[in-house]
Amino acid sequence: MSYSRYGYGSHSFIYDYIRQNRCKKIMEIGIADGENARKMVTAANENFLTEEIEYYGFDIFRWYNWDSDSQIQLVSQKLSVAGCQFKLFKGDSVKTLPKILHKLPMMDLIFIDGGHSYSTVKSDWENSKTLMHEKTAVFFHNYDFSGPNRLVNNISRDKYCVEIIDVPHDSRTAFVKQKT
Ligand SMILES: C[S@@+](CC[C@H](N)C(=O)[O-])C[C@H]1O[C@@H](n2cnc3c(N)ncnc32)[C@H](O)[C@@H]1O
Repeated sequence: MSYSRYGYGSHSFIYDYIRQNRCKKIMEIGIADGENARKMVTAANENFLTEEIEYYGFDIFRWYNWDSDSQIQLVSQKLSVAGCQFKLFKGDSVKTLPKILHKLPMMDLIFIDGGHSYSTVKSDWENSKTLMHEKTAVFFHNYDFSGPNRLVNNISRDKYCVEIIDVPHDSRTAFVKQKT
């Protein structure tokens, strides 16, 4: 099974953020091959034990021509080796996330990188917002894409701090936190 990660970018600023801010409850919408999940958990592992780290991942699991089971297996294997407690949710996050929301804990970091249409990113944001505590960081990948761009530009600057991260080898990413 061959594939390319070309275009997904290298999110080293997220791993630095996880280390520096001692994040241990992490949610990712859009997992792909689980490489980013693995790296986020590895970063969290520098501060916490395996049993203290929680990862919640959402994906339709229809990556390239892989079957869902192989993709879920690959991601599960990577997360097990990295060392965390994890739960994976299969399906369109517009439907799966609101269904499970009441059972999820407040997150330290949320990475929104699933479907990039405005309606999907809006739904992901509206649901993610309810999982934010006062220090939660939400990252929106591909701020340059029209969906994330429109959504992020409409986030209230009275309530949230919004910063655009522009680094080499990655797409622009919006970083959002509650104003304190
Ligand atoms: C760009 S990739 C994610 C890359 C990953 N976050 C990383 O940094 O390596 C986008 C992923 O989102 C998933 N996806 C697309 N639309 C989705 C939706 N509506 N709900 C859940 N997952 C979705 C795709 O299956 C794909 O795996």
